[in-house]
Amino acid sequence: MGVELVTSQLPKVFIARPPQGGIPDRLRAVAEVEVWPGDRPPSKAELIAHASSAEGLLTSVSDRVDLEVLNACQSLRVISNMAVGFDNFDIDEMTRRGIPAGNTPGVLTDATADITFALILATARRVLEANEALLNGEWTSWNASFMLGLELSGATLGIIGLGRIGLAVAKRAQAFSMRVLANSRTPRPYAGIENVSLDRLLRESDIVSLHVSLSEQTRHLIGKSEFELMKPDAILINTARGAVVDQGALAEALKSGTIGGAGLDVFDPEPVSLDDPIVTAPHVVLLPHIGSATVVTRTRMAEIAIDNLIAGLIGEPLPNCINPQVYGSR
Ligand code: NAP
Ligand code: GLV
Repeated sequence: MGVELVTSQLPKVFIARPPQGGIPDRLRAVAEVEVWPGDRPPSKAELIAHASSAEGLLTSVSDRVDLEVLNACQSLRVISNMAVGFDNFDIDEMTRRGIPAGNTPGVLTDATADITFALILATARRVLEANEALLNGEWTSWNASFMLGLELSGATLGIIGLGRIGLAVAKRAQAFSMRVLANSRTPRPYAGIENVSLDRLLRESDIVSLHVSLSEQTRHLIGKSEFELMKPDAILINTARGAVVDQGALAEALKSGTIGGAGLDVFDPEPVSLDDPIVTAPHVVLLPHIGSATVVTRTRMAEIAIDNLIAGLIGEPLPNCINPQVYGSR
């Protein structure tokens, strides 16, 4: 009897960012798994080098899967994003090639709405400034005009994009007795929320919060002319995507006092450079893209992203498919 050479018959998957909780056995049972070891995301060349023979790919928001990557990785049969947003994907090209792509909607809605509200409270009530003043020894006595901010009760919150997260933020605002306006492509009737034009929302809101997904239609939706419509003490909150805002124009608007403040969890590009004018602009609270960063949420995102990957590998429809058109009418 000759020597039997045993090689893995399992399809290869490349995991560009290790998911919270590690790689589950149910994935190892159906795939030969390679996990990117670095703390930083792979560069495009590294992504291509590792995914060129992979049939499955698991990515995060920092991994761009564009035409160049798709051309170089011809074996891919499923691509799973550990995020709800998928502006890092060339989704039209994936669909054209019949590659199902997955995302993780819903499970991160509350965590992201919470961080949006953390930014609303921190900017409106000057939480970081007050903390810094205390640490600098500026709290010498109670002073009736010290650190005055915006009272949320009775203030108007304008939500741009009344999707899952926009609505969850609106509900939180109603619990704070705020008046809520929305500007939404698809009106989503909800008690107490008035759907208005973008101009009216910008003119009437004390706080404007962005919740649209990023696409060519929403890139730089908010720029110089939109800031000029806003109240001079209005606050802009962005937990959607950095490029929905013209970040240079935002830094200018803050410096010139065209608007009063900003709370940002997302930037263009990410990570934001410490030399970027937005970092030194006045009245800003800046977070490093932590909208979904709770243990529960990141664990559930990982489960869904892995479920999508496994389904694609075994030829089943993805439980959360961004481009179900790839399945035709089956
Ligand atoms: P969603 O339910 O799909 O909501 C997206 C909203 O954007 C919908 O109201 C949608 O309107 C609107 N929209 C999309 N394209 C538009 C366009 N061209 N013009 C006008 N409105 C448009 O998504 P979600 O779960 O709420 O998430 C929203 C976004 O939040 C994600 O795409 C992601 O970028 C961001 N996000 C960030 C974090 C973070 O960590 N900071 C975490 C999660 C999500 P229609 O209903 O008409 O489609
Ligand atoms: C995070 O930014 C997401 O889109 O899930």
